[in-house]
Amino acid sequence: MNFRACFPTDNKKLARIWPDFVNMDKRKVREIPFLRSVFPKKDPFVFDSCLGCGATSIGLKEDGIDRVASNEIDPGLLSVARVESRKRNIGLTTTSLDWRSISTVLESRFDAVLCLGNSLTYVFDPSERDVILRNFRSLLAPGGVLVIDERNYPRILRGEFTQSGEYVYCGIDKVSCKPVYSDAGLVVMEYHHLSDGTTSHLHLYPFKQFELRDALVRAGFDVQTYGDYQSSFEEKTVEFFTHVARVK
Ligand SMILES: C[S@@+](CC[C@H](N)C(=O)[O-])C[C@H]1O[C@@H](n2cnc3c(N)ncnc32)[C@H](O)[C@@H]1O
Repeated sequence: MNFRACFPTDNKKLARIWPDFVNMDKRKVREIPFLRSVFPKKDPFVFDSCLGCGATSIGLKEDGIDRVASNEIDPGLLSVARVESRKRNIGLTTTSLDWRSISTVLESRFDAVLCLGNSLTYVFDPSERDVILRNFRSLLAPGGVLVIDERNYPRILRGEFTQSGEYVYCGIDKVSCKPVYSDAGLVVMEYHHLSDGTTSHLHLYPFKQFELRDALVRAGFDVQTYGDYQSSFEEKTVEFFTHVARVK
């Protein structure tokens, strides 16, 4: 059975669903203080490598961090982020670059590079992931950090997926999310808007235990891992791992 064909991705539908799935007002309550706690300085220059509907970039700017550059290659998400930022009277500075070639375009001057919302998992080819992590590293100024997260895939592969709505994707009252297929090489997540019925899917690579962490080390980082934003956590039960990667 071809699970990719059975559960197609519709980027336009996903872009429409995403702000309700994220619930950025709830998300920022935990996310922004966590990011501030791992940034190397009080007023960092931040590169948000995947803006999405704008949650992290807007949250940082609302919290007083002015120098945020935001990247989004999906035109649908970019226009949703523009709408969300205008609602909050926040200006965005944007690029639309593919991570695989990003280092040839941008300079190495960021104090923090962010790749949040379980995003690197879009990339299935391990050598491409290595290139991307090295590219992110090359964007960092001395002392800078890459902050990158992943869902707890070992837990999903054991059939124990949960979505509490407390971390990262907080809009569980509006959008349901569940894996509809999983094996060692592919997880298909289904997103369903509870009021208008819009449904779409994402095809994601399920990182194995330590796989992303090891890739970060290979790319030249020292890594500290947090579980649901805590430094002390129960590996089996957390929903998200967030890696704070510092240049060695
Ligand atoms: C699950 S969304 C997360 C968006 C946002 N960070 C959030 O937390 O809501 C995945 C993001 O990864 C981006 N993305 C995936 N592959 C990419 C690539 N090769 N280059 C640049 N961005 C990419 C998508 O455009 C999208 O913004």
